[in-house]
Parts: sequence; structure tokens; C-alpha cells
Amino acid sequence: MKRIAITGAFLLSSLLSITAFAADAPTPEQKAASDIANRQAVFKLLSFSNAPLGGMARGAAYDADAAKAAVERVAMLASMIPALFAADTTGPVSAGVKTRAADTIWASKADFDMLAADLGAGAAAALAILNTQGEAGVKDAVAQIGPKCGACHDRFRLE
Ligand code: HEC
Repeated sequence: MKRIAITGAFLLSSLLSITAFAADAPTPEQKAASDIANRQAVFKLLSFSNAPLGGMARGAAYDADAAKAAVERVAMLASMIPALFAADTTGPVSAGVKTRAADTIWASKADFDMLAADLGAGAAAALAILNTQGEAGVKDAVAQIGPKCGACHDRFRLE
């Protein structure tokens, strides 16, 4: 009886340590899949955040608070981009995961990070325009942001 209890305790503790190991140390493939999912989530949020301002530029009713929230969110999300691409996910480690990130990102990381910083600067400029011009500045504010998305996509996002 005592022996069964000891064996049981041993089995339980090894199971627990296997579970803890799995939680603490993902395989390189799991890590790459998670990195890719995180960066794609942030780009989805960039689209979501930027959309209301774009809508206002195309004629939706102007809402000062929503317009400012949009550019503040874009600035915050842009600041996350360099860290989201800290790990190189090229090669077999990401085989089977759908990503449109160009492999050249990691050989040109400084340029890539600069394009992310440009987006942040564009969002800051857009905020300044909205603060000084309000509704009259919406189109100009949008023009500070949209081309910065495109500049990076043209170079580093695959079709
Ligand atoms: C510094 C480079 C860079 C900037 C700036 C940038 N993007 Fe991207 N974007 C990428 C890359 C790289 C991908 C591909 C990510 C992947 O699939 O792993 C991407 C993917 C996306 C996606 C697809 C996400 C998905 O569902 O998989 C959307 C939407 C997107 N970007 C929107 C935007 C918008 C909107 C902006 C500007 C407000 C922006 N991006 C700015 C590099 C950038």
C-alpha cells in the first residue's frame, strides 16, 4: 500500500514537472508560431485602430475623441513592432505557419525598425494636426499615417 502511494506520488510529480516544462519552454516551432500570431494580431489591431480616422476622411461624421484615440492607438501599436520581430522566424522553424513577412526583414532589421518608427512619427504628426486643426485636418492626418503602412508593406510584406 505504502509502495503504491509512493509510486503514485512519483508519477504525479513527474507529470507535473512535464507540464511545467511544457509551459516554461515551448519548442522552437511553438515559439515561432506564437511570435507570428502576436505580430499578426498587432497588425490587425493597427487596421482596427486606424479605420475610424479613415472613415472620417471619407465623409463619416467627425468625432474628435475617436479621431485622437485612433492615432494614439496607432502610435502605441507602432512602438511594439520592433520587439514583435525580435526573433528571426525564417526557415524550418516556421514551416507550416502562414506568414507574409519577408525573410529579408532580419537581414535589414535596422531599416525595418526605422519604418516602424516612421509610422510612430506619422501618428504623432497626425495627433498634432488634429489638436490644432480639428476636423479640417482629418485628411492631412490620414496622409501622415497611410503611406507609412504602405512603405513597409512594399518592402517587407509578401503578396
Ligand atoms: C515596419 C513595417 C510595417 C508597418 C509600418 C506596417 N506593417 Fe502591416 N505588416 C507588416 C508585415 C511584415 C506583415 C506580415 C506579418 C506576417 O504575416 O507575419 C504585415 C501584415 C499586416 C496585415 C495582415 C495581418 C494578418 O491578418 O495577418 C495588416 C492588416 C496590416 N499589416 C496592416 C497595417 C496597417 C494598417 C499599418 C499602418 C497603420 C501597417 N500594417 C504598418 C509590416 C508593417
